[in-house]
Amino acid sequence: MQGKVVLITGGAKRVGATICRRLHAAGANLMLHYRASAGEARLLQAELNHQRRDSVALIQADLLDLGKLPSLIDQTVQTFGRLDALINNAATFYQTPVGEITAEDWENLIGADLRAPLFIAQAAAPALRKSQGAIINITDIHAERPLKNYVLYSIAKAGLVGLTRSLARELAPEVRVNAVAPGPILWPDDDAFDELSRQRIISHTPLKREGTPDDIAKAVLFLLVEATYVTGETINVDGGRHVAL
Ligand SMILES: NC(=O)c1ccc[n+]([C@@H]2O[C@H](COP(=O)([O-])OP(=O)(O)OC[C@H]3O[C@@H](n4cnc5c(N)ncnc54)[C@H](OP(=O)(O)O)[C@@H]3O)[C@@H](O)[C@H]2O)c1
Repeated sequence: MQGKVVLITGGAKRVGATICRRLHAAGANLMLHYRASAGEARLLQAELNHQRRDSVALIQADLLDLGKLPSLIDQTVQTFGRLDALINNAATFYQTPVGEITAEDWENLIGADLRAPLFIAQAAAPALRKSQGAIINITDIHAERPLKNYVLYSIAKAGLVGLTRSLARELAPEVRVNAVAPGPILWPDDDAFDELSRQRIISHTPLKREGTPDDIAKAVLFLLVEATYVTGETINVDGGRHVAL
């Protein structure tokens, strides 16, 4: 990744921050997008810039603001002179049981988890074609088998898997487009999963444990660097949970 430039959405904390650290350690310069986590984003930028001067820049945006999305690409190219990879990592995740789904939920979940990745990818396409770059979408194993009560999240991620295949076709042969589908990695901060449901999920996971954010980061790095003949593919990184759901 030496000399390569990566734009990652939602990179300030949790899985996104680990992807940032691993790609940066592999030599990449980063445009790190965040929305509300300004403090975490600045700390991570300082940590990584301490290792390599001017290697990480920040951009703030709410991805629901469609008009702002092209500026993510413009600022990346202005700052670093090129774009080699886009990682669509940011996502919104909350329950939307049938009977309670509102237009606002549709906007929040489809807007952040499916519409934004499409419009950022579209804006990124010319720069990625130029650099023979790649897109990685972070999906979810529940794209294939929906998570109960998470209707909008599940269909947004299903759409993102479809978008991965569609863009792989549209942007070939210059740009490869792949996805990583995490299983249980980090529980949400909002206690949406109590101890019992966590244990149930792990007991139904063949490898009988949670994964780590670095398991996701390593799959991203593999797709970017090693998987040069792979496009339109989704790798499940889930301890085998997709075969036991
Ligand atoms: N954690 C898991 O076990 C797991 C399992 C399956 C799939 N995944 C997928 O893996 C990815 C990373 O997971 P995670 O748990 O680390 O994600 P997360 O903490 O839930 O969200 C990552 C970031 O997305 C950003 N974000 C959300 N809505 C946004 C919006 N409207 N505009 C701009 N930014 C927005 C937030 O940025 P700010 O904090 O700056 O606001 C947040 O920090 C996600 O795509 C997730 O769906 C994770």
